[in-house]
Amino acid sequence: MGKLDDKVAIITGASQGMGASHAKLFINEGAKVVITDINEEKGQQLAKTLGDNALFVKQDVSSEADWQKVIQTTLDHFGKLDILVNNAGISFNKSLEEITVDDYLKIFKINQLSVFLGTKYAAEAMKKNGSGSIVNISSMNGLVGGAVGYTDTKFAVRGLTKAAALQLAHDGIRVNSVHPGVISTPMIHQGDSEAVIKEFAKAIPLQRVAEPEEVSKMVLFLASDDSSYSTGSEFVIDGGMTAQ
Ligand SMILES: NC(=O)c1ccc[n+]([C@@H]2O[C@H](COP(=O)([O-])OP(=O)(O)OC[C@H]3O[C@@H](n4cnc5c(N)ncnc54)[C@H](O)[C@@H]3O)[C@@H](O)[C@H]2O)c1
Repeated sequence: MGKLDDKVAIITGASQGMGASHAKLFINEGAKVVITDINEEKGQQLAKTLGDNALFVKQDVSSEADWQKVIQTTLDHFGKLDILVNNAGISFNKSLEEITVDDYLKIFKINQLSVFLGTKYAAEAMKKNGSGSIVNISSMNGLVGGAVGYTDTKFAVRGLTKAAALQLAHDGIRVNSVHPGVISTPMIHQGDSEAVIKEFAKAIPLQRVAEPEEVSKMVLFLASDDSSYSTGSEFVIDGGMTAQ
């Protein structure tokens, strides 16, 4: 028996990185999974390898119309919605002086507005079941300062998680945030060289970056009934970074 038997999940930004890892684990645990991403080629490829319990839908998470389309497609294809993982996100490492208003609005829309839209429309569908779990991927930079723009959005995701959890508790819908440290995905490999990442790992109490699969286990816990009494809470998975 899987931990997600008979559950239907949407995972955003799941064509690669942590989202793809969550999708694989969810399928192995018995879920039906809608993988969404702007990267259609990789998303279709992944869905194909995962079989009939996976469906790829192209989505820009910052578009309200795309959210409505994704929720409707999920209901049409799999009949209901139990779990949403708001995972899609971008980062950039520009200084305060370098960041333009366009940069700022872009990261706001993809990292923050997306979580508001996803929570709003997923909750509507979940209310029909009288239950649901929304897992919002923030960051350790939702707890402590980091890059301007990125940090702001990840703190906001933490706040939205608590506000939505309070509002949705009476509908049996739980909302929690996950705060990863440095995880080995294309996001960090695009931005930094292997040497920089190795150097950075020395500052992590556990002395290494993590693999996406380590985060997937925490996301599975929050998505499943194993976390039935957790809502509005922060789940940190950062090798000790924020304990320093
Ligand atoms: N990797 C880390 O060290 C780390 C640490 C803390 C938090 N996070 C967060 O975890 C989440 C996943 O990160 P990752 O490292 O797997 O990143 P990644 O870059 O490997 O994957 C992100 C995915 O999101 C997709 N995406 C980007 N913009 C999108 C949009 N507008 N609509 C839909 N999809 C879009 C990309 O195509 C990509 O497939 C992000 O929210 C990120 O901020 C990552």
